[in-house]
Amino acid sequence: MGLKGIVSRRKTSEAKMTRDEDMLKSCIDPSRLPRHVAVIMDGNGRWALKRGLPRTVGHQRGVSSLREVVHLSAELSIPVLSAYAFSTENWRRPPEEVSFLMDLFVEYAAKECDELKQNGVKVRVIGRVEGLSPHVSEAIRALEEETQDGQRLVLNLAVNYGARWEIVDAIKAIADKVWSGKLNPEEIDETVVGDHLYTAGLPDPDLLIRPAGEFRLSNFLLWQLAYTEFYVTPVLWPDFGRVDFLQALVHYQRRERRFGGLKRGL
Ligand code: FPP
Repeated sequence: MGLKGIVSRRKTSEAKMTRDEDMLKSCIDPSRLPRHVAVIMDGNGRWALKRGLPRTVGHQRGVSSLREVVHLSAELSIPVLSAYAFSTENWRRPPEEVSFLMDLFVEYAAKECDELKQNGVKVRVIGRVEGLSPHVSEAIRALEEETQDGQRLVLNLAVNYGARWEIVDAIKAIADKVWSGKLNPEEIDETVVGDHLYTAGLPDPDLLIRPAGEFRLSNFLLWQLAYTEFYVTPVLWPDFGRVDFLQALVHYQRRERRFGGLKRGL
């Protein structure tokens, strides 16, 4: 196919995507959007391997998907988005991949900062940031500081994050308060625990999106996902775009959430 053919095919597929997007948007009730969406950005490696490319290219493309989802969340006035970027278990990957990902976080913090600010995004990093090397933790902290006035969307970036560690850290902080007499053990309830998690002050996710077809939580937000609706799609994260995000929202709005109660009318 010649260049003309490629350009015209791309134009046709872009026009189709806009039509799909408009159609999906018309199915969404803006008054019932999730207050918090969580995503496990999975499938970068498979995306790259399918194309005979190094896994790192998949991670690079994953940043573009994150950008699209952040934009759309802000556009739709979804107040909180959490994205799983690096788990406490990801240190088991080959050192070159880990080091590439660390550099990618630093690059993201530098390159995306202005656009995030313009879009009213406030970045909050959840995870053991102190366990990262100083140049990475400094870049991440600088991004948090620079974007702290964002009013439209809170973007929780989970870096060196593990839900079990998050719960351990919360238990330690609570135990400390009990030990020093600031908290009576009788007062410890779900709210107190929630207030000591990295996500303190934010609503629990209403929707969890897991691309790449995996049905597991991978140690992500274990406490906060207790009543969350799950959406699993075979689409690999680097291919995940606006249409896929809108599809997830449409599915979410079809669910009847009962929080342990009964179906309406029963
Ligand atoms: C899991 O896919 C993905 C990761 C461990 C890294 C996710 C990171 C990004 C998308 C980079 C963007 C983030 C920021 C904040 C710059 P995988 O590699 O396990 O995929 P596979 O299961 O197909 O091998």
